[in-house]
Amino acid sequence: MAHLQSLNSIQSSLLIQSKSSKRLSLKPHTAKISSCLVSDVNPKPITADNSAPVSPASKELMEADKNVMVGTYARTPVVLERGIGCKVYDLDGKEYLDMASGIAVNSLGHGDPDWVKAVTDQASTLAHVSNVFYSIPQVRLAQRLIECSFADRVFFSNSGTEANEAAIKFSRKYQRHIHPDSTDPPTEFIAFFNSFHGRTVGALALTSKEQYRAPFEPIMPGVTFAKYGNVAEVARLVKERSVAAVFVEPLQGEGGIHSATEEFLLGLRSVCDEAGALLVFDEVQCGLGRTGHLWAHEAYSVYPDIMTLAKPLAGGLPIGVVLTTQKVASAINPGDHGSTFAGNPLVCNAALTVLNKINTPSFLSDVVKKGNYLKELLAKKMKGNTHVKEIRGMGLIVGIELDMPAAELVDACRKNGLLILTAGKGNVVRLVPPLVISMEELEFCADVITKCLGAL
Ligand SMILES: Cc1ncc(COP(=O)(O)O)c(C=O)c1O
Repeated sequence: MAHLQSLNSIQSSLLIQSKSSKRLSLKPHTAKISSCLVSDVNPKPITADNSAPVSPASKELMEADKNVMVGTYARTPVVLERGIGCKVYDLDGKEYLDMASGIAVNSLGHGDPDWVKAVTDQASTLAHVSNVFYSIPQVRLAQRLIECSFADRVFFSNSGTEANEAAIKFSRKYQRHIHPDSTDPPTEFIAFFNSFHGRTVGALALTSKEQYRAPFEPIMPGVTFAKYGNVAEVARLVKERSVAAVFVEPLQGEGGIHSATEEFLLGLRSVCDEAGALLVFDEVQCGLGRTGHLWAHEAYSVYPDIMTLAKPLAGGLPIGVVLTTQKVASAINPGDHGSTFAGNPLVCNAALTVLNKINTPSFLSDVVKKGNYLKELLAKKMKGNTHVKEIRGMGLIVGIELDMPAAELVDACRKNGLLILTAGKGNVVRLVPPLVISMEELEFCADVITKCLGAL
């Protein structure tokens, strides 16, 4: 009860702030998307009205969703209708600072004018042709990805799980290719506890969480999990088994925001080299500027044979990528893999714009500065709070580990105009804002989390 009262008092203090600024910031939905600014210029005050009940229109839509959708998602009770910069608005016009970014997808925020132009120009020129034909944006994007990475070759898919599925197939095909006389080439994989690589049957087999895997068994056999960070264990497993590839996230996202060490990744590189196994970096969540490096592995100067990407690359359109070396690509022949939609001109033109905007020294160094500022703010404001065990992360992927489930905090933050995610076993707050977020918005985020946490 006391706990509810203090939450209410926080909510009312934020409400006072919101009421005074409400008229200024709640614009009708007709603002032209192409005229919106990214959010680091004069951010508007947050105007969350936490007292507002869920409106009949929102309730009706949520009910309709329940009646038509397969129940795979435990959704948050908010119907989001539009977004500008780092803010999103629900059906009732309530404003939220978006520290979730569609799960680390909207790196340029919502409605970035260059991204909107790339999408609309390409949509009115040529949206889709299939991979039966060549198309200009696909080749241009592949060239750019190769220019700015370790890779020599690119394969496009539509999502992170599909990129990993392709990497699984490429790894096995590579092993067949280099063991032409063997009837039993290496087909097994090593992955790590707390990993998340996706939900298709191959990628799921590499994902450690038991509750995701168990209902669908038998899934792909031949995967062994090791402790994240333990090179000696991987070295032993690789000797005991016939391993095609080791899959690792240089920074585990879903697993709870755990960064690798240089020693760990260097160790994996040499274990794989010695055994002839491939090293696959899954940068679906941590890649493309999120850590302040274009690729998360650049922080360690350790390079993989295959890297998978997805989430932020096309600014909210579905894309996945496998980047690899000529050595691996030479094992792949026409018909070995493919996709109808993957790498279509619309998605690739959007992705070219996102990649070009993120891949500049000043953009990336800003991500580092903002990430450090956010961690400093959180550490300062939450100092002494007994629920906070650790604040960690790199760049703008930040985790706050609690000694309790984070769900109640997430709800309180949402009611106060802040969207955040959880990770790990539900006890880690995950902050993955648009990379264009402003310092003022980060301050708002830290204030709301601190105040809501104080009320738990
Ligand atoms: C590291 C990692 N790999 C793969 C995936 C799966 O990506 P998708 O949801 O696009 O299939 C995710 C999704 O969260 C991820 O974080």
